[in-house]
Amino acid sequence: MDFSILYSEAERIMGGDEGTSVSRLQRLCEFLKEKAPHYNWFGFYIAEKGRRELFLGPFAGEPTEHTRIPFGRGICGQAADSGEAFVVDDVSSASNYLACSIRVKSEIVVPIFAHEREIVAHEREIVGEIDIDSHQARAFSEEDRAFLERLALLVAPDVEALR
Ligand code: SME
Repeated sequence: MDFSILYSEAERIMGGDEGTSVSRLQRLCEFLKEKAPHYNWFGFYIAEKGRRELFLGPFAGEPTEHTRIPFGRGICGQAADSGEAFVVDDVSSASNYLACSIRVKSEIVVPIFAHEREIVAHEREIVGEIDIDSHQARAFSEEDRAFLERLALLVAPDVEALR
């Protein structure tokens, strides 16, 4: 997996002026799901303003019943609470987990923070998350995590616009 090529392509998709925040994020989901064989479901959850709750944003993959997730629930809700990336190598051993499909074996969730302009690091406000499910166990490496943390900075303005 060449993450530097993937990142350049992601920049190209997100950098264009045409389209809307939704259409750019949607294209990015479809592109990454297609190019990374271990990304079987790629989507965004958006943090609702003034409520400790996430709602489903653009995604590529099977539809999910988890269209709203309170902070603290599931992998997504726990990552929102902690503000840290959350990697689950084997979802069958995760206790606070919301299942989407029995084919899913591992998951990574990476928080997205409000765009630079403001605030000192410890007051960063979460605006959304990148969520990826894989049909492979232990699919996500440190390289995935580093790539997705960079991607989170790139998509932050468009994710913020959906709140
Ligand atoms: N598995 C997630 C729910 C979202 S789906 O993966 C799309 C969780 O436990 O929060």
